[in-house]
Amino acid sequence: MSISPDDFRQTLARFPSGVTVVTANGPDDTPVGLTVSAFSSLSLAPPLILVCLDNATAHLSSYTQGSGFCVNILASNQTDASNGFAFPGPHSPFDTTPHRKALYGAAALNEAAASMECGLHAVYPGGDHQIVVGLVERVSWRKEATPLVYHSGEYRGIGDLG
Ligand SMILES: Cc1cc2nc3c(=O)[nH]c(=O)nc-3n(C[C@H](O)[C@H](O)[C@H](O)COP(=O)(O)O)c2cc1C
Repeated sequence: MSISPDDFRQTLARFPSGVTVVTANGPDDTPVGLTVSAFSSLSLAPPLILVCLDNATAHLSSYTQGSGFCVNILASNQTDASNGFAFPGPHSPFDTTPHRKALYGAAALNEAAASMECGLHAVYPGGDHQIVVGLVERVSWRKEATPLVYHSGEYRGIGDLG
């Protein structure tokens, strides 16, 4: 028995998720990044997280074959950053998103709710995605920030869910 891609997408859209921007060191030592909702914590000891990246991701090898990457959990006022890193235009989204240098040439977004700077731990194939596991080596967070939520194809704040 098989399900249609649309039924699958519609079903997955019922699951509310946070939104992250995953960054890594790209060509010419400039950071690359993309919007990712497929993020999960994985292990406490050692501290591991994972993200799932489409095989079609530009600069995929920067994430899967580099030394490390950074996962930025977006705050509720960062829909522009989420769209900027999801729908590339003529200008780099880094031009309009304040950031600082993170470990391994990745970028930590200054206004993110939290950032996790990771060493590359493992990569596993997962259908048309790669499961990229990071060993978290440095963290920062803004206690006052509320998270950006993605549900049914729309951005929401945590207060909109009730
Ligand atoms: C809310 C949201 C969540 C997304 N989640 C993922 C994801 O988990 N994994 C992924 O590979 N792409 C995801 N994408 C799509 C990528 O951000 C998008 O295809 C991006 O342009 C890929 O980066 P690239 O231009 O460097 O290839 C998501 C997009 C949006 C808007």
